[in-house]
Amino acid sequence: MAELLSETDINPLEFRIVRLDIDPWPEVLRHFFERQSAADRSDFFLGEALLSELKWVDVAEYYGLVRPKGPGLVGFMGAWIVESEAEIHQIFLDPVFRKKGLGTLLLHRFMRYARERGVGDLYLEVRRSNLLARSLYRKMGFVETGERKGYYTCPREDAVLMGCRLFPENAVPSTVLPRPSMEGALCPGERESVAS
Ligand SMILES: CC(C)(COP(=O)(O)OP(=O)(O)OC[C@H]1O[C@@H](n2cnc3c(N)ncnc32)[C@H](O)[C@@H]1OP(=O)(O)O)[C@@H](O)C(=O)NCCC(=O)NCCS
Repeated sequence: MAELLSETDINPLEFRIVRLDIDPWPEVLRHFFERQSAADRSDFFLGEALLSELKWVDVAEYYGLVRPKGPGLVGFMGAWIVESEAEIHQIFLDPVFRKKGLGTLLLHRFMRYARERGVGDLYLEVRRSNLLARSLYRKMGFVETGERKGYYTCPREDAVLMGCRLFPENAVPSTVLPRPSMEGALCPGERESVAS
């Protein structure tokens, strides 16, 4: 069981979430990818295709986790939001910053934001062997809904499909409200599941 931000040099209040489609972040993200291991770049698609998604601002939303007093960008997540559905395409932290509760905080912030945007259903796919990520998603209210045999390559592996209902079908999505923001400082209290 990972302790939430137990390391003395990690304080969630030092981290901010920023939109990655606005300069200088696309270039910062490119350099962040270059710093990652070849295995992680391959496993998690950290390359040009992902960078080009930043331009698809109608649907794609990418956010960076930034520690201004440290290395700058330490992780990111991205999703497509189309009407009342969202598909999480990636969530990735620099290895130094993993297993300290930051992934939980980042995903929680996104789920709260998605809910405020009127998203009712979240989807994602994850490598079967990625037990840490699957455990994070389960903790946040995702359930396994299926699989895609041999979906991933290099190495070839099945994808586990997961989904999460953010509010009951009869709830009124808040799409008429002013558009909320995902940006801002992390808050240590942001942990509980926002799934219905
Ligand atoms: C997946 C990832 C985003 C999770 O973020 P994280 O900050 O490392 O995860 P957290 O510290 O918030 O831990 C989340 C949960 O993972 C599990 N976990 C954490 N550390 C663990 C460990 N050492 N062993 C097993 N499970 C662990 C726990 O269930 C934990 O919840 P808990 O602390 O309440 O028990 C991050 O590890 C990462 O970037 N991994 C590489 C990229 C990746 O796999 N992305 C997902 C692609 S689908």
